[in-house]
Amino acid sequence: MNTGNTRKYRFETLVVHSGLNPEEWFGSTQPPIFQTASHRFLTAEHLSDVFIGKEKGFIYQRLRNPTTEALENRVAELEGGVGAVATSSGMAAVHNSVAAIVQSGDEIVSGNSLFMSTYLLFSNVMRKFGVRVKFVESTALEEYEKAITPRTKAIFIESIGNPKMDVPDIERLSEIAHRNSIPLIVDNTMATPYLLNPFSLGADIVVHSTTKYLSGHGDALGGMIVDSGNFDWPEEKYPEFEVYKERAGRKAYLDKVWREIHINVGTAQSPFHSYLTMIGIDTLAVRMQRHIENTEKLVEFMIGHRKVRWVNYPGLKESPSYETARKQFRKGFGAMFTFGLGNQRECFDFIRNLQLTYHLANLGDCKTLVIHPYSSQYVSFDTSTRMSLGITPDMIRVSVGIEAVDDIIEDFNQALNKV
Ligand SMILES: Cc1ncc(COP(=O)(O)O)c(C=O)c1O
Repeated sequence: MNTGNTRKYRFETLVVHSGLNPEEWFGSTQPPIFQTASHRFLTAEHLSDVFIGKEKGFIYQRLRNPTTEALENRVAELEGGVGAVATSSGMAAVHNSVAAIVQSGDEIVSGNSLFMSTYLLFSNVMRKFGVRVKFVESTALEEYEKAITPRTKAIFIESIGNPKMDVPDIERLSEIAHRNSIPLIVDNTMATPYLLNPFSLGADIVVHSTTKYLSGHGDALGGMIVDSGNFDWPEEKYPEFEVYKERAGRKAYLDKVWREIHINVGTAQSPFHSYLTMIGIDTLAVRMQRHIENTEKLVEFMIGHRKVRWVNYPGLKESPSYETARKQFRKGFGAMFTFGLGNQRECFDFIRNLQLTYHLANLGDCKTLVIHPYSSQYVSFDTSTRMSLGITPDMIRVSVGIEAVDDIIEDFNQALNKV
């Protein structure tokens, strides 16, 4: 955006221009890649001033980097937050977002419809450090309320559960969280800021795997933590926040994420990946529009196909999440769905016969992608956990790309007919 321009733009415009400052980069329309581990200082006084925060500057890539900072500004603006911290992966963002809040002995209440590694981080890794995560049915509001105790420090959900495709009610969950003086953290990877800004519904912290729709090309790993700046971290519950509140005011949480966890664990995003992600963000709105249009048409085709036993998409009126999704999302219902065939063998046959669609473990790429989660990402999970996460042997997950939809449909049709 040009310096001094305070006009409020529509999302499709914002997404192209957010957080960009060409004047700072010799007029370059994208921030350059500052590919350096550290930055030289001519005097010890200068370096010391930057270290103590008297002066702004860049010291070392693990701490801050100008290219990555441009990406942080872009995503913070798209989500309507006061700031953001970019991380090396979505999982680093999920981890840091929680690790900055909890102490040993604390609890988190989380919806049970979660991406595999988030589930394992919460159920295994956090437990090793004395933090208990209580899982509740993601869309059952009363279960969250029941699970909260005086030790609970946050509620965590995904805006569209991966791969259960359920949509928790963010507005109601924010009310529950705030009634209990705790923040609501939303993983907004699947909905993206194109469909939803969780802060506008009362959420306090947003995390992303930028690896998915934000970068959009399946070429750059990354994560992001965005803070609304609205949660006030009451001293009785979060005494360790006091020093950060004093130093950073409304950015206390981000300061804690950054100072306490991010720089010491070493979860910095590489500037090259930040650069690639920003190129992806420029086209987020047009990609999402096309992803969603294609998904609606492919879902309609799948429902009518004799080999397909069921289809799960929050945009279907039969979906238990339809009403919440309709209320919550701006322009559609996302670009992922799952469907069922007769059994695992049929799923494998379908995947083997695809000619255009890629079979791989990712989502949010321009290309259409499929995976059989039961036998891949979730293969080491016991059956009852797989069932609670909505992972069944007959299920295929689809991330619909931006190709010509008739080509996607023809590819699915020929593969289904060979099952
Ligand atoms: C909803 C969600 N959150 C977080 C992650 C983790 O992101 P990353 O692979 O960038 O670490 C994923 C990955 O698939 C995801 O789908």
